[in-house]
Amino acid sequence: MQDSQHTNCASRAPNCRICSQSLRPVLDLGRHPRADSYRKPGDISPELMFELKVGICESCQLVQLIDEVAPELMFNSDYPFRTATSQRMQQHFRKTALSILELETPADTAPFIVELGCNDGTFLAPFAELGHDHLGIDPASNLVSEASERGINAQTGWFNLETAAAILKSSRPATVIYAANTLCHISDLSSVFKGVDLLLSKDGRFIFEDPYLGDIVNLCAFDQIYDEHIYYFSATSVDMLARKFGLKLIEVEHLDTHGGQLRYTIGRQHQTQSSSVLDVIESERTSGLHTIERLNDFAETVQVRRTELPKALRELAAAGKTVAGYAATAKSATILNYCGIDRNLLDVIYDTTPEKQGRLTPGTGIPIEAFPQSTEDFPDTFLLFAWNHADEIISRETAFQEQGGSWLQFVPSVTLTLNPAS
Ligand code: TYD
Repeated sequence: MQDSQHTNCASRAPNCRICSQSLRPVLDLGRHPRADSYRKPGDISPELMFELKVGICESCQLVQLIDEVAPELMFNSDYPFRTATSQRMQQHFRKTALSILELETPADTAPFIVELGCNDGTFLAPFAELGHDHLGIDPASNLVSEASERGINAQTGWFNLETAAAILKSSRPATVIYAANTLCHISDLSSVFKGVDLLLSKDGRFIFEDPYLGDIVNLCAFDQIYDEHIYYFSATSVDMLARKFGLKLIEVEHLDTHGGQLRYTIGRQHQTQSSSVLDVIESERTSGLHTIERLNDFAETVQVRRTELPKALRELAAAGKTVAGYAATAKSATILNYCGIDRNLLDVIYDTTPEKQGRLTPGTGIPIEAFPQSTEDFPDTFLLFAWNHADEIISRETAFQEQGGSWLQFVPSVTLTLNPAS
């Protein structure tokens, strides 16, 4: 569809992107703008829109978007997300890097670590500090520059079979290939897996972590669904994915980062599979995670949230309370657009990202501003869009809570809490 204010920017996957079998639609969130596209006030050019719909492959169980925005529109020199924004994520990646060095790299060989989607270089920094060979690849040239400035060996580009061959020509097989919050963004996983197969050393490991379908469904975290997240992985679907490319899922670990993720470790056929793989696959089977009934239940709860959240905002306004959004996350685009929350219900969203400040939220036009200098200028209530960083944020915002500030949250349910830390 195309009209004067909106331009369609997506193409449709007729079938599963991995195994070409049919996709069964399970959730339709309607028309949405690109999530990370923050317009300047007064910009009246047509906004890029697409249909935000999710389907499940009835053969390989991979849950995925049906329509897809062209990657160049999403990942380019304007990409605003930085890993280092969250202190807790910085700690997570340092811990992960050090544990990879300790557990995954043989003592007698110099490791070579490759990261797909290296962002600002947070994960690779410890390898650079310790003088280990490493390489980061990311299509966002602004972030590659930031990573390079902090001493990380990084290059702008997309990881695929050709890139893997080029790296191999000028370097050597990778001991570990790592990707965090990256694989779910890449439509052509086939080329990624072929590239991994080519670049990974004989005993190497491909480790990646992404939001977990199980947590999305169980917590009704439907804001994880937006244009950049094409896939919603599970142990069942990743096990099949690895097999399809001659590799083997050898370990699965649940992480509490970003609202619940799985870390998948993939190796070659001769490598031993930990019991964690079959355990998680079995738990997915017994909970019916991939069944149409379970996914329909999820879709029904999503619809309930659509009514509940604007209602909570209207009730706060009626009680004379001021409310502002906490963090203009990419995820918030789904919440705001799906629930119809615009400037009539929310005056402002505060965010620490300089590129977002002074801009408007996509589709809903809510101003994004820097946080007020003084907590006294905070609202009565914050609508917490960065709920995945709730522990970090709530433990930091003690002054806000001491002055009686409350948090409106919507995951796992719509709740208004006065000082959740107490
Ligand atoms: P995040 O939930 O990490 O990711 P996404 O945007 O992919 O949903 O949110 C990142 C955004 O949240 C970024 O714009 C910075 C903002 N943010 C804050 O403003 N304050 C904070 O304390 C944190 C952790 C994030």
